[in-house]
Amino acid sequence: MLVTLALVASALAAKIPVSSLQNIRSTPGNVAPNRFIVELSAPLGNTKRDILSRETHELLYNHMRKRSVSFQVDREFNSPGVFIGAAVTLRDANDRNELASMPGVQAIRPVIMVQPPQPVSSHVVTGVTDPAIPADTESTHIITGVDKLHAQGIIGKGVKVGIIDTGIDWTHPDLGGGIGPGFKIIGGFDFVGDAFNGTNTPMPDPDPLDQCNGHGTHVAGIIGANPGNAFKISGVAFNASLTAYRIFGCNGTTPDDIIVEALLRGVSDGQDILTMSLGGPDGWTEGTASVVSSRISDMGKIVTIAAGNDGADGMFFTSGPGNAIDSISVASLDNTVIPLQNATVLGVQHDPITYFDALPLPVIDTLPIFATSTDTTVADDACDTLPDSTPDLSRFVVIVRRGTCTFVQKLTNIAAKGGNISLIYDDGSGFEDIDVGNFTSALIQAADGEFLVNEFASGANVSLSFPQTGASTQFPDPTGGLISSFTSYGPTNDMFFKPAITAPGGNILSTFPVPLGSFAVLSGTSMATPFIAGVSALLFGVKGNSAEVGRGARNLFETTAQLVPSSLTDGDPLQTAAQQGAGLVNAFQALTTNITIQPGELLTNDTANFVSLHTFTIKNTGTQAELFKISHVPAGTALSLQNGTSFFADGPVPLSTDFATITLSESSVTVHPGQTQEITAHITPPSSADPSILPVFSGFIQIVSANETFHVTYLGVAASLKDVQVVDDTNVFFGIDLPVLTDPAGDLLTNATNFTFVGEDVPQLLVRLDFGTPLLRADLVDPNENIPTTLNKRSTMSFPQDVAGGTSAQIKTIGPLFELDFQPRNTDENDGTELNVFEFDTPTFANGSTIPNGLYKVLLRALKVTGDPTNEADFESWLSPIIGVVVPSNASDST
Ligand SMILES: *[C@@H]1O[C@H](CO)[C@@H](O)[C@H](O)[C@H]1NC(C)=O
Ligand SMILES: *[C@@H]1O[C@H](CO)[C@@H](O)[C@H](O)[C@H]1NC(C)=O
Ligand SMILES: *[C@@H]1O[C@H](CO)[C@@H](O)[C@H](O)[C@H]1NC(C)=O
Ligand SMILES: *[C@@H]1O[C@H](CO)[C@@H](O)[C@H](O)[C@H]1NC(C)=O
Ligand SMILES: *[C@@H]1O[C@H](CO)[C@@H](O)[C@H](O)[C@H]1NC(C)=O
Ligand SMILES: *[C@@H]1O[C@H](CO)[C@@H](O)[C@H](O)[C@H]1NC(C)=O
Ligand SMILES: *[C@@H]1O[C@H](CO)[C@@H](O)[C@H](O)[C@H]1NC(C)=O
Ligand SMILES: *[C@@H]1O[C@H](CO)[C@@H](O)[C@H](O)[C@H]1NC(C)=O
Ligand SMILES: *[C@@H]1O[C@H](CO)[C@@H](O)[C@H](O)[C@H]1NC(C)=O
Repeated sequence: MLVTLALVASALAAKIPVSSLQNIRSTPGNVAPNRFIVELSAPLGNTKRDILSRETHELLYNHMRKRSVSFQVDREFNSPGVFIGAAVTLRDANDRNELASMPGVQAIRPVIMVQPPQPVSSHVVTGVTDPAIPADTESTHIITGVDKLHAQGIIGKGVKVGIIDTGIDWTHPDLGGGIGPGFKIIGGFDFVGDAFNGTNTPMPDPDPLDQCNGHGTHVAGIIGANPGNAFKISGVAFNASLTAYRIFGCNGTTPDDIIVEALLRGVSDGQDILTMSLGGPDGWTEGTASVVSSRISDMGKIVTIAAGNDGADGMFFTSGPGNAIDSISVASLDNTVIPLQNATVLGVQHDPITYFDALPLPVIDTLPIFATSTDTTVADDACDTLPDSTPDLSRFVVIVRRGTCTFVQKLTNIAAKGGNISLIYDDGSGFEDIDVGNFTSALIQAADGEFLVNEFASGANVSLSFPQTGASTQFPDPTGGLISSFTSYGPTNDMFFKPAITAPGGNILSTFPVPLGSFAVLSGTSMATPFIAGVSALLFGVKGNSAEVGRGARNLFETTAQLVPSSLTDGDPLQTAAQQGAGLVNAFQALTTNITIQPGELLTNDTANFVSLHTFTIKNTGTQAELFKISHVPAGTALSLQNGTSFFADGPVPLSTDFATITLSESSVTVHPGQTQEITAHITPPSSADPSILPVFSGFIQIVSANETFHVTYLGVAASLKDVQVVDDTNVFFGIDLPVLTDPAGDLLTNATNFTFVGEDVPQLLVRLDFGTPLLRADLVDPNENIPTTLNKRSTMSFPQDVAGGTSAQIKTIGPLFELDFQPRNTDENDGTELNVFEFDTPTFANGSTIPNGLYKVLLRALKVTGDPTNEADFESWLSPIIGVVVPSNASDST
């Protein structure tokens, strides 16, 4: 059977009957159908590498032709020492198994579609320029010490950074206004073209110009915007040389073979740093782009990758390729301030009113106010047509309350009475950027709105002006200085430490394509990632771009970082290292310290693979002896699962103060110049943490000298991952115990059902994964085979009851329907990530052979995390009702 791995587009997060899945058709998921990346072993010998490598490719193709595998080569990779292989499209996806046995084939991985880098919030600045914005708009530079490095003239000169993104608008004056030698943007390549959306044919060209998306231009500005612009912002390393590798079109996704090609191109172009603000939920370290990124890091290049914006989905939800083992995954910190504007109140005594816009509303005249309601608790202000008594609003600033209907609807009703300038006051939902369409409007805080409305109601003669210069204000962000809640949580399913480090990524002002407004405030780990790329450029600039410096960068950033609390409430624990990594980067200390501490991460793994004893070293490369005090500073223990369930808790993940304990070999140590001291740490998991909620404990061993503070970060889970349920067998999401077989209409199969495999007469399997699995497979078995299964055994079936116990020896399968490696878990969101639908289009096994007509059951098996694929007891299993394959003798196997 040809298996389409598909995610349902419109399933529901709440409990719903499966019958309402009726109209669901499989939609393409994140795996590109029939496309694979084949990795080949390096050719023997190291002379004439190119020739040998060519032969390696040809050898593969010859074997494929010989075995009548019908294929097309989409892309070849030929970077000896990093990655050799090819991206191929197979006419029959089942030929994957043929490929696996061919000589030289090291690995075959499906091509993964990677999401476009979506900012969490986005606000394009559209007003006039404001020359009076204060010089320290760069709050992000201050909290990370980048300002102090700039003051010393450390600006990344001579360092090359490759940006793999949507391209860059190199016409932007603050990005140098050009491309090529001599410019800031020294070059680039467009692998895809404007119209590429992930499924159509890429149209490469040499010019990486992006004037339609903007993401890459914002990223570029964070690294390299020239100072002296209207906003007085600058890049972290504004003298670095940038190269734009454009891998996204204006819209849509991109396959990871293009990411790999861009990475390898970056290596061959001699980039010192490669940065990728992209990715998608994964949880495993095994995707091709992750593997290649990690290898490039091992070469001594610095690769920075976004941690992901899926914080709402809770723990163990790292993004690929951000989970590349040796690369740097970057978390986001909310900026301490949001750059906003003030309006001036006239007629009554009142402080300026801050409105949520980075630039002034383009209003020149001072105008009186008009309130659409004098009731400051009105729920649906201006949601309906305004009354006939409403005056002509064209000469007023209209004050309207948030709530019930969209902002645009309120503004449209106001516009119907001539009103074209409005301030919307908050109703308690929160002070934030709002979507006002084309209207001249912005949000103000509730208290300011209520004041204005009350003054209006009392007949006071209040008016407002919108100064076009000098009214910029650094509004303190209430969550400023905390980890952005959208940052994806680690660790990886194999307990690797992701994210590694945090940088400012929430409410970041940077460059944007000129046709799209030139500047924008965006939020996301996409914005934090280039910040670390910039700091990396400063590092290479100061210490030289050697492989040794590159390989040591993550460790250095981690050990010198600043610890971030979980909230602004005193007494709350530090944020889990599974979300903040080692903390907020301290660029100044990282680049100026004479102390090297390593490793930066002490990973204890799970309780079944527990590593309790760790050592780290403190090395003094300075000229003075230094005394270090060493102590344990725990972070909050993250309670991964919802109590009593096998569902992950949504973010922000609850934290407990049930900490690990650490015994240190020394509590203080003096390290003389040139010396290295070794410290051992014995880590014990929290004693009373309930393993059934998968408590991830973490924290820091702090190392404090007279003038500096360092730390190594530890992380582990106080449970055995093999005990965590993988396959959802509850009825919580769909009102029916999962997994289920349905017909394509979504109707549940509760009894034996025949399928002709003609047209729509095919079965599909619905599987929700509560946790990732290294191996998910489905096989056909004999309908009377007496196989022990672990998941909701049905008693309603007309065949023998499953029995408990048993070993792999007892399982006799007829043939595999599919076998999938390293599957991510599903979410509880209603966006297509909550369920996997496997549609069996044709009556064929995974190897392409025809399934004979007859009666079968489907045996689904999922390997538990850390499970042994050769041990049947490490799998969860489920048996379907009987299906009959009754292909009419004249029906041809078409798909
Ligand atoms: C991208 O999508 C937008 C709207 O979603 C559309 O207006 C634009 O034409 C698209 N661009 C391309 C190149 O397809
Ligand atoms: C991509 O664009 C092509 C046209 O070039 C269109 O047929 C296809 O539906 C688009 N795919 C997506 C996912 O938007
Ligand atoms: C903006 O308004 C706020 C609130 O009234 C005030 O604290 C701040 O000083 C003002 N800033 C400027 C530049 O006017
Ligand atoms: C904004 O204006 C453009 C062109 O003036 C128009 O096409 C578009 O529909 C408007 N959008 C809204 C939300 O009013
Ligand atoms: C944790 O243990 C598992 C099982 O041995 C192993 O596969 C994994 O790589 C380990 N993780 C780390 C971070 O060492
Ligand atoms: C590092 O050592 C140099 C040379 O002794 C010294 O000038 C500098 O202040 C030291 N840096 C720090 C952060 O202690
Ligand atoms: C989980 O449930 C148990 C039993 O209902 C209760 O004792 C425990 O406090 C709960 N734990 C949490 C973290 O809510
Ligand atoms: C710590 O700072 C003080 C004051 O700046 C300086 O005198 C001292 O040398 C520094 N110590 C080290 C070890 O750098
Ligand atoms: C199977 O179930 C369907 C729907 O519940 C029912 O209509 C049909 O009669 C059943 N068939 C048998 C053989 O029990």
